[in-house]
Amino acid sequence: MSSTSPAERSLVLIKPDAVRRGLVGEILSRFERKGLRVEAMETRTLDGDFADQHYAEHVDKPFYPPLKAFMTSGPLVALVLSGDQVIEVVRGMIGSTDGRKAAAGTIRGDLSLSNRENLVHASDSTDSAKREIGLWFPELG
Ligand code: TYD
Ligand code: MG
Repeated sequence: MSSTSPAERSLVLIKPDAVRRGLVGEILSRFERKGLRVEAMETRTLDGDFADQHYAEHVDKPFYPPLKAFMTSGPLVALVLSGDQVIEVVRGMIGSTDGRKAAAGTIRGDLSLSNRENLVHASDSTDSAKREIGLWFPELG
């Protein structure tokens, strides 16, 4: 990375199940120990419209109604993380979507037994990171 290009950024959510289970510190600590930088962090409770915007790609899928209920069920912690290849790095750290199948050593693999309540969201591409950071933290541009 040249000194003039800003570090890559990713939008990460520590979801309501993690807050309820007291896992915010554990999850945040993994990102910090990896060397990623916390650019923004805020607790929010989503309404349905915001959940629809965040999960625009999924609103018509059969799993969306229960996902929406879950994502609006209580407070979550929204983060912008930055670092070298942060998007790919964080996706690797969280593991595959279904906690029952996610590899041991990943956040979902170690701490979740669910395909819905899987503790963390993370942007999956530079395009989605740009869109999601614009939605959650418009002040970061
Ligand atoms: P998706 O974007 O496919 O997964 P990821 O979070 O790994 O990017 O799906 C978004 C969320 O929707 C996922 O974290 C959990 C939920 N979900 C379900 O509840 N059921 C499903 O069958 C799938 C695929 C996802
Ligand atoms: Mg996704």
